[in-house]
Amino acid sequence: MSETGPIGIFDSGIGGLTVAKAIRQALPSERLLYFGDGAHVPYGERSTAQIQDFSKAITDFLLERGSKLVVVACNTASAAALSSLREQLPAVHFIGMEPAVKPAVAHTRTGVVGVIATVSTMQSAVFASVVERFGQGVEVIQQACPGLVRQIEAGAFDTPRTEQMLRGWLEPMLDRGIDALVLGCTHYPMVQPLIERIVGPEVRVIDPAPAIARRVEHVLHEQHRLATTTGTGTFTCWTSGDVEPFRSMLHYLDLPTYEVHKACWSGDTRVTPCTS
Ligand code: DGL
Repeated sequence: MSETGPIGIFDSGIGGLTVAKAIRQALPSERLLYFGDGAHVPYGERSTAQIQDFSKAITDFLLERGSKLVVVACNTASAAALSSLREQLPAVHFIGMEPAVKPAVAHTRTGVVGVIATVSTMQSAVFASVVERFGQGVEVIQQACPGLVRQIEAGAFDTPRTEQMLRGWLEPMLDRGIDALVLGCTHYPMVQPLIERIVGPEVRVIDPAPAIARRVEHVLHEQHRLATTTGTGTFTCWTSGDVEPFRSMLHYLDLPTYEVHKACWSGDTRVTPCTS
């Protein structure tokens, strides 16, 4: 693993860009190397074994390009694959996502908090353990949102259909008195304005991306591996999906749009730059 290489970041698709953006804001001198697995999104409806295969192959791809740290910017992949990645690659420093139940519990006055995430994250042992560790003494309402990642990947951030889906999940939570809502999937901050419109100003919506960026900074600082140059960071993206829609997402998020490359899968266990 390189000492001076880029920070590798991956997600099933565009969701991890919300984390990449927070890292870029916190650490503008770093080189970021992002991989979005548009060919396989959504992970939330796939088996654990498949998510583990994809995550290992993408990690290999990022390490082959010199990554000094790997951020699993996907709650679903973190829940399904982070422990197996750490076992297989003990020398690599990984930072993963877990639903931000702790800050939600610290915030609540009603004693009721909500978490929205993919089906796979909701069913994971990692999520059960987060609720067990941090959710004592409060009611944690868990709501899976099947289909929401597809809407977001399609750029349907504020359409009547996306609003109808979100109202169907969020209004029952409001009826039960939530005053904090955890976005347990890195795609969901892309519809945060719509979510905030539905839940209103009394509910705090928690996006964990800034906390992940602080964690990355802390780890690199501890290891004396922060980039030393000032303000010259780069942002290179790879997608196994279509390049142009991916580029539009970068534009939407106000991220730089240069350097988007296409990656191709060979089976489920190897991904490389496309040759044509
Ligand atoms: N961004 C991923 C997450 O945080 C989305 C999962 C999916 O592809 O279903 O869970």
